[in-house]
Amino acid sequence: MPLAEKGTVISNHQTGRDLWEMEFLAPGIAAESKPGQFVNVRLGDYSDPLLRRPLSLYDVEPDAGRITLLYKIVGRGTQLLSRYGSGQLIDVMGPLGLGFDLVQNRRVILIGGGVGIAPLLFLTRELVARHNEVIVLHGTGSSDELCSQGRFSKLGVEYKVATMDGSSGYKGLLTDMMKEALEPLPTDYIYTCGPEPMMSAVAAYASQHGISGQLSLEEHMACGVGACLGCARKLKETDTAYVKICKDGPVFPLDAVQLSTGGS
Ligand SMILES: Cc1cc2nc3c(=O)[nH]c(=O)nc-3n(C[C@H](O)[C@H](O)[C@H](O)COP(=O)(O)OP(=O)(O)OC[C@H]3O[C@@H](n4cnc5c(N)ncnc54)[C@H](O)[C@@H]3O)c2cc1C
Ligand code: FES
Repeated sequence: MPLAEKGTVISNHQTGRDLWEMEFLAPGIAAESKPGQFVNVRLGDYSDPLLRRPLSLYDVEPDAGRITLLYKIVGRGTQLLSRYGSGQLIDVMGPLGLGFDLVQNRRVILIGGGVGIAPLLFLTRELVARHNEVIVLHGTGSSDELCSQGRFSKLGVEYKVATMDGSSGYKGLLTDMMKEALEPLPTDYIYTCGPEPMMSAVAAYASQHGISGQLSLEEHMACGVGACLGCARKLKETDTAYVKICKDGPVFPLDAVQLSTGGS
């Protein structure tokens, strides 16, 4: 059951190019949260922007009641979010959506493109607690968009990066690094989030190699709770029914979605 809570901001600071991290206290939401779920944040004065903005649970520490968001400034809402200071209250609804299935005692690969790394940190925390061997692959355009290494390292997992300009780690596409990283070692399960063409390449690789997994989709949203149809989408062209990404997702099986292969 989603809760509406006024979270108290602990910190809000820039961690990379256009990337910010906000920590706030919202004990009710933190206690109910699962990896892959999201919060819908009200920004501004209730009319501009009119709609809440969906953001993944980057990290959650239920005992401390603490939630961390990782967000990229792309427009007015995220710009307003960056202006919140310590001690201010933030209007948050959550946890929303269906999160990831959590496997146990497996060898799992998490693949995040850009800010698509956001839902994978809390997931890593929970997978490590379930005795999985976790490898995280993160791809960005350049090293100034990498800001999560410290947080993943603290969880004791392998974290590899690919940058398009070669300024850090593997030079080139994250999905090319994925093939090199996965080929010598068997993998039981893949989780991914990021641009659809990237996830499409991941899903194709998984299908070729008989690996199951899950992905997290992004869609424009309004209510976030399944009431407005703002996020309705057919998962495959041939489907007759629409799903609501906010309520039936945002997490789906890798082979359930026909992903866009063009653009970025
Ligand atoms: C379930 C879910 C989880 C998300 N988690 C994160 C996260 O952890 N960190 C993060 O930085 N972003 C995340 N996003 C995307 C985030 O919601 C949008 O970037 C944000 O709403 C943009 O608001 P804005 O007012 O700044 O930009 P706007 O002015 O609304 O839009 C600026 C640009 O971003 C595009 N855009 C806006 N919303 C979306 C969207 N939902 N999907 C795709 N493109 C969009 C617009 O088309 C436009 O080009 C998530 C989206 C969803 C659906
Ligand atoms: S955002 Fe309203 S139904 Fe999904």
